[in-house]
Amino acid sequence: MAESSPPSGLSRRVFLETFGCQMNELDSELVRGQLAALGYSFTDDPHAADVMLYNTCAVREQAENKAFSRVGRVGVWKEQGRKVVLGVIGCVPEREGEAMIRKYPQIDLLCGPGELDRLPLLIDNALRTEAASLADRVALQGNTTRRSAAYEAAQDNLEALDLSRAFDPDRAAAGGRSAYVRITRGCNKFCSYCVVPNTRGPEIHRPPDAIVDECKRMADGGVIEVTLLGQTVNHYRYVHGLSVGADGREAPQFGPGGGAFRAGGSEPDVGHRVTTFADLLNRIHDEVPSIRRLRFVTSYPRDFGDDILQVMAECPRICRYLHLPAQSGSNRILKLMNRGYTVEDYLDLARRARRYLPDVSLAGDFIVGFSSETEEDFEQTRQLLRQVRFKNSFIFKYSPRPGTAAFDRMPDDVPDEVKRRRNNELLALQAEVSAAVHGEYVGRTVEVFVEQVSEKARKGGGGVELGWTRPDSAERQMSGRTGGDLITVFDLPDGMRPEGLLGQIVPVRVEAAAPLLLVGSLLSPTERAGPMPLSGDRTGQ
Ligand code: 5AD
Ligand code: SF4
Repeated sequence: MAESSPPSGLSRRVFLETFGCQMNELDSELVRGQLAALGYSFTDDPHAADVMLYNTCAVREQAENKAFSRVGRVGVWKEQGRKVVLGVIGCVPEREGEAMIRKYPQIDLLCGPGELDRLPLLIDNALRTEAASLADRVALQGNTTRRSAAYEAAQDNLEALDLSRAFDPDRAAAGGRSAYVRITRGCNKFCSYCVVPNTRGPEIHRPPDAIVDECKRMADGGVIEVTLLGQTVNHYRYVHGLSVGADGREAPQFGPGGGAFRAGGSEPDVGHRVTTFADLLNRIHDEVPSIRRLRFVTSYPRDFGDDILQVMAECPRICRYLHLPAQSGSNRILKLMNRGYTVEDYLDLARRARRYLPDVSLAGDFIVGFSSETEEDFEQTRQLLRQVRFKNSFIFKYSPRPGTAAFDRMPDDVPDEVKRRRNNELLALQAEVSAAVHGEYVGRTVEVFVEQVSEKARKGGGGVELGWTRPDSAERQMSGRTGGDLITVFDLPDGMRPEGLLGQIVPVRVEAAAPLLLVGSLLSPTERAGPMPLSGDRTGQ
């Protein structure tokens, strides 16, 4: 790829801003690694950059608007004579297509999430020549058939990108000890409101050996927390012997249809060894014991078998945490959303999860104000939220997205003020539930992965935003997460430096709780030397 290095004599500082989900965060990390290896450097100052990249999200209109406002801002700078290469990458250009570059002439290049291996070449073209043709400035999957051999072959290049990922020990202390590892790309579910199957393409599953190797490399570099990423991780399923890459090794393969998860399995499996999601978790847990926390997002509430729960129960280093988007508590709305499960199925899964893992914490996603949602439907959502006792939920107002079935076929008929009210009501209810869930931890000792010197302490205040104030709050406060993903803060003990704690997993006695926060103190070395309080788990809940 020598020709993709920044042309000598030209500046090459890159500013990269990321919007949206964890999948985008990982993509940005890969982009960084790829460009750094080619000699580019990075800056946090947009005014100091020669190349500006925005990694965009198209899931909701609000997220997308941010991308367009950045593009507008750079457009003004360019009109004022600033020389900078502007690249828009991620899901927005994939959805908008080439038209975007015609409509916004300040954009120099577009790159979809499935083409990121081609990004250095696009940047190179833009840096070398201002008049590069459209084909030299745009890489989108666009009209590639969702299920073609060409598409599958293209995944090999992306696989190489994941595999070439270099661990950077200079990253922030705690951040450097936590890493995302992708297990699948894309999604086959086609929920009626969602753009992801269009922008990220069909489900492609990485070979288990590649995933385990990546986990090992991360662990060798000092990572102790790995989060496996996929849109629907529990649908991970790799059939061995079906896909071989040019190098003779196993290659990424298309995910199976939903039939593979129901009685009888699916046809291609016959006579082949299969690695399921449960098998994959088991392998990583056993083969990479230095990963002290193994987590995964996002789970799909259908086809989540007891085999996964069983493995979670048996493997102490797998976090007792499930992000399990429910979206609605009304069966009528779930059907319109094409979610493929009922409220009863969802409750059954929550019950099974708690039977295998009594201290599991559950997080939800909800959409309010979906097409035709009535007060009665909304009341059912409130009921589900109460019943499941989520430790927190991400709540969104329905945002119609061009290219989705709901956009084409269902009116956006819930007025915005009603969406807003339902959003606020659900947030308030979740705050009550969260406070109760967090309150149950008071008096217990939890294991905390320390991630940062607390924001609030840095700004000199208490934890106001998180619903907690402590006027005499110590100068420095550390914050991190439990294995169940509960945010926990504690004061930095006298004589200790933050660097000594960042990136460590430490025991904290919980003394108070707020809706989204546990507040405690670090156990002293003598307290730690005693028998470790079980607090109902072995995993550092
Ligand atoms: N409108 C509102 N929320 C959406 N989500 C996905 N698509 C939309 C949309 N069109 C939410 C879902 C999903 C989360 C990532 O974003 O709750 O789980
Ligand atoms: Fe979107 Fe549904 Fe796939 Fe999640 S499962 S990414 S909501 S289509």
